[in-house]
Amino acid sequence: MLSKILIILILPLASYRLSTAKWKFPDDFKFGVATSAYQTEGGWNADGRGTSIWDVAAHNRSFLIRDRSNGDIACDSYNKWEEDVLMVKNLGVHYYRFSLSWTRILPDGYSSKVNPEGVKYYNKIIDKLIENQIEPVVTLYHWDLPQAFSALGGWTNPIVIPHFANFARKAFRLFGDRVKIWITINEPRLMCDFFKGLVGDITPDYPLGISEYLCAHNVLKAHAAAYHIYDKEFRPIQHGKISITLDMVWSEPANASDPEDVRAAEQNVQFDFGLYANPIFNYDYPKVVIERVANRSKIERIPKSRLPKFTMAEKLKISGTYDFLGINHYITMYTKATKEPPVTKPSFDVDSGGKRFFDPKWEGCAADWIKVVPWGYRNSLKWIKKNYRNPEIIITENGYADGGDVINDDGRINYYREYLNATLQAIIEDGVNVKSYIAWSLMDNYEWGFGYTLKFGLYHVNFSNPNRPRTPKKSVEFFKKVVRTRTIP
Ligand code: BGC
Repeated sequence: MLSKILIILILPLASYRLSTAKWKFPDDFKFGVATSAYQTEGGWNADGRGTSIWDVAAHNRSFLIRDRSNGDIACDSYNKWEEDVLMVKNLGVHYYRFSLSWTRILPDGYSSKVNPEGVKYYNKIIDKLIENQIEPVVTLYHWDLPQAFSALGGWTNPIVIPHFANFARKAFRLFGDRVKIWITINEPRLMCDFFKGLVGDITPDYPLGISEYLCAHNVLKAHAAAYHIYDKEFRPIQHGKISITLDMVWSEPANASDPEDVRAAEQNVQFDFGLYANPIFNYDYPKVVIERVANRSKIERIPKSRLPKFTMAEKLKISGTYDFLGINHYITMYTKATKEPPVTKPSFDVDSGGKRFFDPKWEGCAADWIKVVPWGYRNSLKWIKKNYRNPEIIITENGYADGGDVINDDGRINYYREYLNATLQAIIEDGVNVKSYIAWSLMDNYEWGFGYTLKFGLYHVNFSNPNRPRTPKKSVEFFKKVVRTRTIP
């Protein structure tokens, strides 16, 4: 009788242990937090920093920014970098992902004249991180192009490629003895497709349906150039890793049993993600993108496809330029197939097709493009595994926005709980090779076209106080616990 009672008591305990052991991040799994230069540094003209397209856009076309603000001071990390490092340390995470401001290092963007003060600034951060056992994950380019290239068409002009390569080489030489994880370019889709309409000075009046593809083409070549420079000249002595960060917008068929919706959703994923990933993983743009842009161009009576072609040499150069894949994830949508529209002006959105929408039942947050749909994120990871031979993935961003000064950020905690859980499911149940999860963001910062109206931070920043004091939000404790216990509380 007693043994029976014992078994009844012990069995559930044992199976509970088993299940918590299963739902644990692997021992080599790394956590981190992220920021980017223009969004946090400030010091926009300090100590010889040159001007970037975002300085000019936010100054001259501030009407395009929701609160008409700019990143002149932002979080003042140019002065408060040491406190930032201690905040990262307090979280107990392994990685701090931040970006280099190109014009802080090469002020005019195109000459090789290095600004020693800019180098000193990043050296201080990198050294302090390492002193605190935090590994720097450094993004070379997070959207702050030197202004000099703006009048030349920005990334739509291939002239940027050798200059970016030159900047990358400088960065590897200056910091690569300590930086072992590099990201060439952050989210090309956003800079090539989205900003064209948001901030005129970023991509002023470029022909739509053409500029996005030119930009993508050049970005891929620039990424590959930086990858090969690292691979040949630096990897043998520095032994690090390098890749690109793409944002995975997930499109789910509105009706999974309607083959047309399934096709349309897949097409959206190929235009948003495959456009950038496929040349790196599978030699060329996705077939559906090549065919569709060619067909639409034809009916628009454009003699050549609006999608540029890679030469064989270019394909070979771009292919395989990854040591892992950086993924930012924020968006899941449904796609409903639509009838082929009549001849319109060239348009990326028409090329991509389908009607996309959010389920009104999905919980949202202050950023209207972010809904809490962890299964969409999980499906996107499975899609990457299937299409690109299960590469090592670093989630380089994922996060949730509040609209105001929320310290008890239960919405964010719930979001991270759901998405971390989906990460675990993707690893354990789907066999996706996710090795790290980096949250966006360490602290509230300048949210591009939304200025300071959206807050993504684990730490709150008071932007009306000249000292920009930082305060941990409730989610700091939650995140610390995840990192410490490797489980989701
Ligand atoms: C960008 C970040 C941005 C975040 C939240 C990502 O697309 O890389 O710079 O702050 O999304 O919108």
